[in-house]
Amino acid sequence: MGTDFDLVIRGGKIATASDIFDADIGIRDGKIVALGTALANGRDEIDASGRLVLPGGVDAHCHFDQPTSDGSVMADDFDSGPRSAAFGGTTTVIPFACQQKGQSLRAAVDDYHKRANGKSVIDFAFHLIVTDPTPQVLGQELPALIREGYTSFKIYTTYDDLKLNDREIIEVFALAKREGALTMVHAENSDAIAWLTEALERAGQTAPRHHADARPAIAEREATHRAISLAEIVDVAMLVVHVSGGEAMDQIAAARAKGLKVFAETCPQYILLTADDLDLDGFEGAKHICSPPPRDTASQDSVWRGLANGTFQVFSSDHAPFKFDSDTGKKLRGEGASFVHVPNGIPGVETRLPLLFSEGVGKGRISLNQFVALTATNPARLYGLYPRKGTIAVGADADLAIWDTERKVTITNSALHHNVDYTPYEGRTVIGWPETVLSRGELVVQNGMLVAATGRGKFLECDVPDLLL
Ligand code: URP
Ligand code: ZN
Ligand code: ZN
Repeated sequence: MGTDFDLVIRGGKIATASDIFDADIGIRDGKIVALGTALANGRDEIDASGRLVLPGGVDAHCHFDQPTSDGSVMADDFDSGPRSAAFGGTTTVIPFACQQKGQSLRAAVDDYHKRANGKSVIDFAFHLIVTDPTPQVLGQELPALIREGYTSFKIYTTYDDLKLNDREIIEVFALAKREGALTMVHAENSDAIAWLTEALERAGQTAPRHHADARPAIAEREATHRAISLAEIVDVAMLVVHVSGGEAMDQIAAARAKGLKVFAETCPQYILLTADDLDLDGFEGAKHICSPPPRDTASQDSVWRGLANGTFQVFSSDHAPFKFDSDTGKKLRGEGASFVHVPNGIPGVETRLPLLFSEGVGKGRISLNQFVALTATNPARLYGLYPRKGTIAVGADADLAIWDTERKVTITNSALHHNVDYTPYEGRTVIGWPETVLSRGELVVQNGMLVAATGRGKFLECDVPDLLL
């Protein structure tokens, strides 16, 4: 006698962005085809009794194998990065195909596909990074790429090799409006940072901790306000990435109160680290150099409030993996080099979900539904992957993470699966860990082991997000 399902996940407690209920999940051909009690037998069965079953996470901001212009090399590629993500309960990643100035955007996308091809264990989409919005890029390449499923792109207001001026930002926003795409903005005032950096260097204040002095919250606030204003001129939705605290959040909340479609993302470093983490002995603080920098405990409190009150829609890792003890990583110019020469970014693709679950849901700061919304459903919706990804519903891909909510884990780098030689969260204890992870109904992580083939992950074409229509 045949069975109705390839796999039944039986007896778990399911949480989505809106509901929590007990049900079995019937899976056929990689999709969820039934939710109910006492489902018929599957060819395979997983007993999830006493466990929480969540949609696999969607990490909408991570950097893997991204070319850089300073000689640094990202430690994670499309093999180690997605594998690490999967061990942390994430089943979809969206890294960035980054255009180098002078390069065609199409060439950047083609190159990034070559880097990804045959490597990822979970499904992935691409955001684009637009650094050179020439008439060719805006008139032809970008509209064509949007129609091919690259419906979101990041722009920068800082970093000399990446930043756009205000006129260029408006041109990109106008294109996003015309074509139905979402622009993600890295908002920090470049000239203010350059001025502060030069003053710090003249004063010999070049230790890692001065990275935070060079990139104050005011510079983030100003650029956030400016980007929102430019988007308002064009009347287009936009999303501010990696928001670090209350100054920028106030701008976002005010814009939303006016009815503007301004979305916002924050990351683990802004709820768990402060600028003091850049002020460790020797060069250790370089481990925590990222932009915007982590700030203070008041900023952490603000970010928690924003996660709970809806200022933030998305919680991503901004996994930007550079080894600490490496001359292609944090020690690119040697130990003791000025903070200016330390590659920006910290790892976190594997720890994103357990940290937010433990610190947020476990400590009553956010609800379980908010956790799912922030880490899976909202990013899937904003980036045109919903309802295929980011939820547990009939018709969705069976991308699932089965959590042991009682499991106590002390985070240590040796137990993680990225290719970075440190974690900012070393020694931190969390309660709750995703113990079994499935992608399109296939087991990917089970009993602490990777059980799926490298390269099985599929490239995902993104739709025009329904929130933009
Ligand atoms: O410092 C960071 N965040 N590096 C990664 C690149 C970016 O700006 O997101
Ligand atoms: Zn950024
Ligand atoms: Zn980033």
